[in-house]
Amino acid sequence: MKGIILAGGTGSRLWPITLGNSKQLIPIYDKPMVYYPLSTLMTAGVREALIITAPEHADLFRSLLGDGSAWGMRIEFAIQPSPDGLAQAFIIGESFAAGDSVALALGDNIFHGSGFESALPDTKNFEGGHIFAYPVPDPERYGVIEFDDDGTALSIEEKPHKPKSRFAIPGVYFYGPDVVDVAKGIKPSQRGELEITSVSEHYLREGRLRVSVLDAGTMWFDTGTIDSMMDASEYVRAVERRTGAKIACPEEIAWRQGWITSDQLATIAGPLKKSGYGSYLLGLLES
Ligand code: G1P
Repeated sequence: MKGIILAGGTGSRLWPITLGNSKQLIPIYDKPMVYYPLSTLMTAGVREALIITAPEHADLFRSLLGDGSAWGMRIEFAIQPSPDGLAQAFIIGESFAAGDSVALALGDNIFHGSGFESALPDTKNFEGGHIFAYPVPDPERYGVIEFDDDGTALSIEEKPHKPKSRFAIPGVYFYGPDVVDVAKGIKPSQRGELEITSVSEHYLREGRLRVSVLDAGTMWFDTGTIDSMMDASEYVRAVERRTGAKIACPEEIAWRQGWITSDQLATIAGPLKKSGYGSYLLGLLES
């Protein structure tokens, strides 16, 4: 399975912070936002990722992430000329996907918790669709999924005025190799965008969509606004200071996955010592 991170858009809900920078590069506590969705994909075992950015930010992402080889990965970059909807990611990523199944992670979505990790699908020979549902007090801000009394998914709607349930659909999606064709077949919504909810709806209609309901054992943040960004930063800070373990540390995940050796981890850690990030990585080797 390949991974796509959608890190485009103008970040207008964060202006002026994002007038000269990409939203997905600003920090969530101690690391750039894009480290979080990248860590989500890596935890699921995805080793090849395409980062889709706005044209003006492509070079910034390249200098942060390089080609991924330092983390035992392959990272490519592509441009989203204008933000015409999340499902466009599959069309932009068609040649990168090259007929493989694809996981899409939104660049501003942060997940944490053992409940989430155990709900991640097996990415080998993946077919159909697998999405998540998370109860929130403000479902109208998200894609919303409705269930019947037996927990069978009934409908999916993008930002409905009158949500049929409390279950929002968080921004990480797993789809089979046919997803590029599915994305090409959907029609733009009333707001003129190729909606990701239309892709999931397609799999739901065909009876090929699995939905994992996440509970309070998972923290999920969509960091699209100043306050949600601050909430996420405060959460990461509190957990990291209390446990001594980092959330969404790609170098650590690559090392635990066996994608890089201890020597490679030590080489990465050296130049990062001053911020404490490098000492953390070296501490992993000692323990
Ligand atoms: C997007 C999707 C929505 C999803 C949300 C998760 O909305 O369109 O279905 O629930 O991400 O963060 P956006 O945040 O781009 O408005």
